[in-house]
Amino acid sequence: MAGIYVHIPFCKQKCTYCDFASYPNEIGKQEAYFACLYKEIKSKSELLKGKTFQTIYFGGGTPSFVEPKYIYGALKQIYSCYKIDKNAEITLEVNPGTLTKEKLKVYKNAGINRFSIGLQSACNQTLASINRCHTDFEFKKALEYLDGYNLSVDVMIGLPEETLSHVKNTIDLATSSNSVKHISLYALKAEEGTPMFSKYLNGELLSDDEVADIYEESVKYLKQKGFNRYEVSNFSKEGYFSKHNLNYWQRGEYIGFGVGASSFIDNRRFTNTESIDEYVSAVLRNRSPEVFSEQVDGEDAKKEYAMLALRTEFGVSLLSYELSFGSNFLVDFANAIKKNRKYLDITEKNIKIKSEYLYVQNSILVDFIG
Ligand SMILES: C[S@@+](CC[C@H](N)C(=O)[O-])C[C@H]1O[C@@H](n2cnc3c(N)ncnc32)[C@H](O)[C@@H]1O
Ligand code: SF4
Repeated sequence: MAGIYVHIPFCKQKCTYCDFASYPNEIGKQEAYFACLYKEIKSKSELLKGKTFQTIYFGGGTPSFVEPKYIYGALKQIYSCYKIDKNAEITLEVNPGTLTKEKLKVYKNAGINRFSIGLQSACNQTLASINRCHTDFEFKKALEYLDGYNLSVDVMIGLPEETLSHVKNTIDLATSSNSVKHISLYALKAEEGTPMFSKYLNGELLSDDEVADIYEESVKYLKQKGFNRYEVSNFSKEGYFSKHNLNYWQRGEYIGFGVGASSFIDNRRFTNTESIDEYVSAVLRNRSPEVFSEQVDGEDAKKEYAMLALRTEFGVSLLSYELSFGSNFLVDFANAIKKNRKYLDITEKNIKIKSEYLYVQNSILVDFIG
């Protein structure tokens, strides 16, 4: 399996917790940006000749903020340069404060068949305090517009002042349409350099234990509503996993286009610059916008495989591991398995972290990647 990721770095305004390559006040650069994006899409097609892609994902930033003709153009360029599976999952991230019926018509014509909507919280006071550009009203409108599509909704836990009852209200709103088949539940990370980090330094955020309790209760609440966890932050109705993300966790290949986009092709990981100006300048001069590249082979590839697969409810398939690396997972990771035996479920076919320890997986994974 292989995926395509397209990064759209523009946002209407910057949320206080976000350190993604996403910029407010830069929308004036969209025309130059997309001209370069189309050029980059074409220039990498030689490298990927012969591969077929099963997923395309427009992430950001806010893909629904830019003029929709540019999204249409990017898909057209992708189809003209690459082989795309006829049942491909094609996702666009949407911020409810930027979606209109007119944009949706263009997305539909372009072939987008899945939308991931950022809600974060159903509480308007919280939304204002984290500088979101929408209220619960715009989210309800977005759900109405997108009715009938395959939808995912992003929810955050650990936001300032929010209790379990706020999170349950958010989950109620996020799952209020039958079209919603997938929920991503992210625990707030106070990223250095963001306004949220100052709150963390001032001791104004919930403790790790408080967030862990909210997480465990949210997992139960989502399950009651028919959303089963398949990765630490991801939940879906039967059969509605995000194919694009599953490919990452299965160490599948993907190519990324645009500012800050990462790729993994032929065991090489590489990443583009996060600066719009540097990106445009490099592509215009026929130079690579890459700023980082590393080959991941041998023992490092095995460790990466273990780390990615153990994040999911499926864990490591012993057969797939053997087919990929020609060696036995139980032998290669004997020490880490012995040390963490009580946290693991081991069957003839699989090895996975027990459900109740998935949230604290990082303390287990260090032994697999050390
Ligand atoms: C690119 S954004 C989604 C689309 C759109 N930009 C929006 O915010 O509505 C991806 C998601 O990452 C999550 N996220 C971003 N920064 C985070 C942080 N510091 N901690 C936890 N989750 C975060 C949010 O749930 C957000 O919806
Ligand atoms: S809208 Fe999304 S990408 Fe933009 S700042 Fe907010 S969370 Fe980040």
